[in-house]
Parts: sequence; structure tokens; C-alpha cells
Amino acid sequence: MGRLDGKVAFVTGAGQGIGEAIALKLAQEGAAVTIAEINAEKGANVAAAIQAAGHKALFIKTDITQENHISAAAEQTIAAFGGLDIVVNNAGKNFYFDPAQMTSSEWDDSMGLDLKSAWMCAKYAIPSMVKAGGGSIINIASVHARMTAPGMFPYAAAKAGMVGMTRSMALDLGKHNIRVNAVCPGWVRTELVDEWIARQPDPVDALGAVQRVIALQRMAEPMEVANFVAFLASDEAQYFTGSELIIDGGLTSRFAT
Ligand SMILES: NC(=O)c1ccc[n+]([C@@H]2O[C@H](COP(=O)([O-])OP(=O)(O)OC[C@H]3O[C@@H](n4cnc5c(N)ncnc54)[C@H](O)[C@@H]3O)[C@@H](O)[C@H]2O)c1
Repeated sequence: MGRLDGKVAFVTGAGQGIGEAIALKLAQEGAAVTIAEINAEKGANVAAAIQAAGHKALFIKTDITQENHISAAAEQTIAAFGGLDIVVNNAGKNFYFDPAQMTSSEWDDSMGLDLKSAWMCAKYAIPSMVKAGGGSIINIASVHARMTAPGMFPYAAAKAGMVGMTRSMALDLGKHNIRVNAVCPGWVRTELVDEWIARQPDPVDALGAVQRVIALQRMAEPMEVANFVAFLASDEAQYFTGSELIIDGGLTSRFAT
């Protein structure tokens, strides 16, 4: 018996990192999971690994900046699994620009992936959730929604927008028993982060500096975020909605250095 038996989940960017861990965890809890991922090789590999472990998964090559891709992927999910109960808006990218130099089209691309896509994925799942009498939408934001660092524009703006959107949608959808929550991770050890560390002038020093400001003295593993997402997706979290839930090992408890 899993906490998500009989549920259908749609996870964006589940080809690697946090999204991969979330897809795996939701499947282990009994959900049938759609991997909505732009990278065909990675997405297909994750779906195959979940199936090999005896769970239900479907890979759909999806660019979540394209509305027609999302609507088709939602339709395909509902046709394959009979509904859509859980959406995890995970895919995102760290877009960094100088606000004085960034072009309008760069702004549109950043917001298209890091903010608009989450609304669009929710939009195409809502009718099925209303029909089923409820659902859970989980937006993977970031601690950068709350406090940020120089050079994080407009990533921090998109993630703060995601949290605002979470509150707004929670209020509008509560009457349908659709819960909408934002999860704000701190540092999570994924390829994205490993690449960033490798790019620093002294990677060992950079990793040490990151670890020193975290109360638990280490980054999260992707599965630690996934465990929390599985709880939020489940009926155990039935009174959680509109919440901004920080999972950061104590990073944002710290004042300055
Ligand atoms: N890693 C961290 O420390 C951290 C911290 C806070 C928040 N986050 C957020 O968590 C989410 C996942 O982060 P991650 O570190 O696992 O990232 P990642 O780069 O390792 O994985 C992102 C996945 O999204 C996919 N993707 C990219 N563009 C897409 C598109 N247009 N359509 C569909 N899929 C697309 C990529 O192919 C990749 O598989 C992001 O939203 C990120 O902002 C990460």
C-alpha cells in the first residue's frame, strides 16, 4: 500500500536531478507518473527505470514553454492513466542577466520557463482534478523567492512570482479541493549545482563555503526534497494549501555571514 495508490502524477523536468527523484518517489508511493521532459534520452531512461522497478511511468517529450506540448501531454496522460491528480512544476533554469542589459526576449524566455509554464501545466490539469473532486499542485520554487544574492536576476523574480501564483491559485481552487503549494529548496546536490561548483575558480573552496552557511553543513540530496513532495501530494497533507514551504537545512535561518 502506497500513499498515492491509484493517483496519476505529471512531473516536469523529470529527466534528472530533483525532478527525477520526485518521479521515482511518487511512483514508489503508487502513483502512475508522466515524465514531461524536453531531453528525450534522459526522460525515456527515467521512465524505463521506474517501469523496471515495477511501477507505472510514461515518458512524453515535452517542451513546457510550448502550450500545445503541455495540452497534448496532459491529454495523453489522461488517456493512458484515466486522470491527472498531481502536478509537480519542477523544470526550471537559473537564468542570470544584468538587468540593465537583458533584452525583452530574454525576459520572456526566462519567465516562460521559470514561471508561465507552471501556470500552463496547472491549467490543463485542473479540469481533470475538478472532475475527480480534488488534486495537488506543487510548485518547485527556491529560497531565492524569499532572499537572494547579487547576480540572480531574473531567476529570483520568477521564483517569487511562482510563490505569489501559488497563493493566488490556492484561493481560487480551494473550493474544488485542489491544493496548491510551493516548495522552496535551498542547495540541492544536482548536476546543475555540480556544474556551478566546477565553474568556480576554486571548486573545493566554493563547496566548503556553501556548506559552512548551512546549519546542517551539507546540501540536500534530491530524494530529501522528493520525500517532502510525496507527502504534499498525499492525503496526509490535506490541510496544506497556499503554503510556501522552505526545505533548506537551516540556510535561511542564518543572518549574514
Ligand atoms: N538544485 C538546486 O540546488 C535547486 C535549489 C532550489 C530550487 N531548485 C529548482 O528545482 C528545479 C529542478 O532543479 P534541478 O537542480 O534538478 O535542475 P536540473 O537542471 O538538474 O534539471 C532540470 C530538468 O528540466 C529539464 N528541462 C529544462 N527545460 C525544459 C523544458 N523547456 N521543458 C521540459 N523540461 C525541461 C531539463 O532537461 C532537466 O532534465 C528547478 O526549478 C530549480 O530552479 C533547484
